Amino acid sequence: MYSFLEQLRATCEARKIPLISRETQAFLGDLLVIKQPKRVLEIWAAVGYSALCMANIVQAWEGSVSSFEIGYTAYLEALKNIKEAKQRNITLYPFDINEIVLEKFFSEKFDFVFIDAQKSQYGEYMEKIQQHLHPENTLLLDDIIKYQNKLDSLYWFIEKKQIDYQIFPMEEGDGVMLIENLVK
Ligand SMILES: C[S@@+](CC[C@H](N)C(=O)[O-])C[C@H]1O[C@@H](n2cnc3c(N)ncnc32)[C@H](O)[C@@H]1O
Repeated sequence: MYSFLEQLRATCEARKIPLISRETQAFLGDLLVIKQPKRVLEIWAAVGYSALCMANIVQAWEGSVSSFEIGYTAYLEALKNIKEAKQRNITLYPFDINEIVLEKFFSEKFDFVFIDAQKSQYGEYMEKIQQHLHPENTLLLDDIIKYQNKLDSLYWFIEKKQIDYQIFPMEEGDGVMLIENLVK
């Protein structure tokens, strides 16, 4: 899997397809190993790189990953990558999470959420997913420093709900936000 991911990263970088930084990948991997979540939600997949990274780790304790990608070409490419990697614990949906009724798709609650999406909508995603979280949950939000001027909806949500969070610098000029147990 390591060489498959390295090859996919190189292809994505050459084609300028957005994907998580190496630093975020390492942080995310460590966090998954510590938290050992069973049900991971990813908002969004692009061509499946971060979904594959997470699925490869959580398979050790029979965890699974559900991810969404609105771009149909990217969705098809992600499906192909997942198939080629023989990673069986990922379910990919070609939808905008804001446009669907999540209850129709999921009965189980998520205990880990990775958000790497449209920065201006981070607050909306949080509103949308909060009913679908396990009492013990971890949320990791990417690109929190680089796009801080686009995060009004996120900080509005955080303030409204009085949520504790931590920001960790990652690659130069960027970082991630960690939120633990969003709803109890
Ligand atoms: C930053 S990339 C995700 C990279 C991925 N997490 C990785 O590291 O491999 C963001 C992706 O979100 C998709 N996207 C943007 N808005 C979306 C929406 N409303 N619903 C679903 N996917 C969306 C874009 O098509 C793009 O492929």
